[in-house]
Amino acid sequence: MRTELSFSAPSQIQTELLAIAAVDTQTAKGPDAKPQVELLTSDAEVKKAAAAVLSSGEFKAGANETLLLHAPAGLKAKRLLFVGLGKQSKVNVHSVRSAAGTAVRFAKPRGIRELVFALPQSDLLPPGPCARAAIEGAFVADFDPDTYRSDRKDLTVQSFTVAAPPRADNASIEPAFREGVVIGESQNFTRTLVNEPGNKLTPTEFGRRAAAMAKEVGLQCEVHSTDKIKELKMGAFWSVSQGSEEPPALIVLRYEPKGAKDGPMHHPTDKDPSAETPVLGLVGKGITFDTGGISIKPADNMEKMKYDMAGGAAMIGAMRAIALLKPNVRVISIVCASENMPDGKAQKPGDVQTAMSLSADRPGKTIEIINTDAEGRLVLADGLTYARQLGATHLINAATLTGAIAVALGTHNAGAFSNDDETYARFNTALETSGERFWRMPLGDEYSDQIKSDIADIKNTGGRYGGACTAAEFLHAFSEDTPWIHLDIASMAWIEDSKAFIAKGPSGVGVRSILEWVRSYSS
Ligand code: BES
Ligand code: MN
Ligand code: ZN
Repeated sequence: MRTELSFSAPSQIQTELLAIAAVDTQTAKGPDAKPQVELLTSDAEVKKAAAAVLSSGEFKAGANETLLLHAPAGLKAKRLLFVGLGKQSKVNVHSVRSAAGTAVRFAKPRGIRELVFALPQSDLLPPGPCARAAIEGAFVADFDPDTYRSDRKDLTVQSFTVAAPPRADNASIEPAFREGVVIGESQNFTRTLVNEPGNKLTPTEFGRRAAAMAKEVGLQCEVHSTDKIKELKMGAFWSVSQGSEEPPALIVLRYEPKGAKDGPMHHPTDKDPSAETPVLGLVGKGITFDTGGISIKPADNMEKMKYDMAGGAAMIGAMRAIALLKPNVRVISIVCASENMPDGKAQKPGDVQTAMSLSADRPGKTIEIINTDAEGRLVLADGLTYARQLGATHLINAATLTGAIAVALGTHNAGAFSNDDETYARFNTALETSGERFWRMPLGDEYSDQIKSDIADIKNTGGRYGGACTAAEFLHAFSEDTPWIHLDIASMAWIEDSKAFIAKGPSGVGVRSILEWVRSYSS
């Protein structure tokens, strides 16, 4: 999708479709309180062209509601599309992201390949962040998952223009607009990976795609397999991989900002000799297919388990955006990619595994396997340890870890856990920019008590209740006191029904929030 930024008046732009946002300003309630539609443009020609249809009351400006007008009088556009942002009292930048997406998904099935989205003019809507959000929304909306249809019609939008208000401060809009392109494309990169079936995106292929992306954007990348996993004594990771014919992949991406000093990861400053320069560790679960292993899953919906690498893909998408937006902070990403299969060599319930040790003076923790379907925490245990060994001072991991998170939160929020309030506060602030919905969930000794083992240091499941929290406590045993955030995205990684602004299928959740969290450390 080509993107452009225009500073012409909307009425003067020649286009197949001009989209104009509208709000409902009605504050009264009750049966007589009719919607009061207000177009968010100062363009008098557009208002004139819209007057008759708006006075009809057919269009109520509900969130993502649309109404199309052909051959609007006095405009150079062939079509005028109204897109609702909903009640004015609830409108924010995120409504603009969805509205731009709604316009794109309105255009696509109609074969309209080029459109202009007028940035809404309102004191409530800062133009820079709105330009960024509109571009993100447009990219996200342009994605469809039907890549393997032999009769696929390519309906992608070829050109999307943001029309900024004529007197807008373009110095602030342009960089935001360019950020939006990077972020929207990176989120779609993640979605493309998540959409791939398990027979196409094996761990090896996952590694190849990460490496190709890294080369394109200038990240350091290493993709290891069985030998390195065994050399590092990643017994938890390997216990999942041992039951598959497909070799695992340990994907390591590194981002070094320009001017970062070589050598050890700790850089005491003059002011505070104990202060260390942060090194962020982004760890992702990359199970390219999860059958459950010997604790095999039922057949219903098992095909969905191709998306069990969505956490890893989110990290790789975030790394792409980091490489292009260049925050001034070191970042290491570790994605543990594997299949989880039943096999003669597969691990069994009751087996005891030894996880990677952090340092020579400490033995690796031993894990009793209760359920081989709780495999994500096993690969992440070693991924977290490896990130710490490589010098990460702050950790974030993302994983489609538990069905229990969807039981707790529904499909409207993903779960977030953290052992450090300061670190989590940065993530919470990141959510204001990303517009993604994560809900902080509790950790605690009561949950870690549930995963005490009679034979080993820890067991990999904690019984029926609090499944998302006991899974988080399992990871906590490996992040220990390194500041850490765990994102359980199982509830949000796959969208079951298409919405006005996004297709059903892989959501790319996490990419935008992880990126903003990383940027919060940029000095
Ligand atoms: N990949 C699944 C979690 C999952 C479930 C992701 C639904 C997306 C949608 C994970 O590996 C798993 O199987 N978890 C088990 C844990 C249980 C055995 C303790 C689960 O949630 O049932
Ligand atoms: Mn599983
Ligand atoms: Zn899984």
